[in-house]
Amino acid sequence: MRVTINELKEMKQNKEKIPMLTAYDYITAKLVDEVGVPLILVGDSLGMVMLGYDSTIPVTIDEMLHHTKAVVRGTKKALVIGDMPFMTYHKSISDALHNAARFIQEGGAQAVKLEGGEIVAETVKRLTSCGIPVMGHIGLTPQSIYQLGGFKVQGKATQAAQRLIKDAQILEEAGAFSIVLECVPAPLSKLITQKVSIPTIGIGAGPDCDGQVQVISDILGLYTDFVPKHTKRYARLADEIKVAITDYVAEVKSVSFPTMKHSTSMDENTLSSLDK
Ligand code: KIV
Repeated sequence: MRVTINELKEMKQNKEKIPMLTAYDYITAKLVDEVGVPLILVGDSLGMVMLGYDSTIPVTIDEMLHHTKAVVRGTKKALVIGDMPFMTYHKSISDALHNAARFIQEGGAQAVKLEGGEIVAETVKRLTSCGIPVMGHIGLTPQSIYQLGGFKVQGKATQAAQRLIKDAQILEEAGAFSIVLECVPAPLSKLITQKVSIPTIGIGAGPDCDGQVQVISDILGLYTDFVPKHTKRYARLADEIKVAITDYVAEVKSVSFPTMKHSTSMDENTLSSLDK
């Protein structure tokens, strides 16, 4: 049985912190799940870290579904959330419902995430009333990067902070089961976390959120094009991978790999019969 949205609410009530990570493929999702991470997000960040786009804007729903299916196949316990890409939930509520349903039905995810506050409230209401759990996402919303003018901390001034508090409350009222707070000043995240009864999951939002999310390739030191301030590297896998590949190349060139240990021998008589 996978983690449920009710269990997440209980974790908030019991003041048990909620770790969440992104994953985009079968192997990584399996490792994250085996460690016991309760929430896995197939983030549209995959556009940047897996597909090499320079933002999340070009990501399509078909690309998201392809990766979501792989993550679902690699997991048994975690609640898997599919990130709805740019413009797949803005055109109309029925379009949003159709696309969210694809994540659940085709992708096998148990929930979807979408960016925005009050602007998506009616959509959140409709999706949740149709049985699709929704995670909100406010603060720095990367799909609005052109509107926001860059990857900047949000909610620093009074009006912007009040807007974020209101958005969080509106998302809760609309039925969201949790909200990501991205790049929000730590004291504001603390306040929002106190004001809503659903779990807040922070990224660059300080230690007082109910949970934390990170992009897996950032914390593993795999994605090195850009390292956000809010990331801590727990490993340097890019360096380790390069060392391993360099060793492999050197051994292939010097014929020290493969050895007979990695190969199969053959009956001498059969071999000599072939030579005649
Ligand atoms: O796409 C993503 O990885 C995200 C997280 C950073 C929350 O939205």
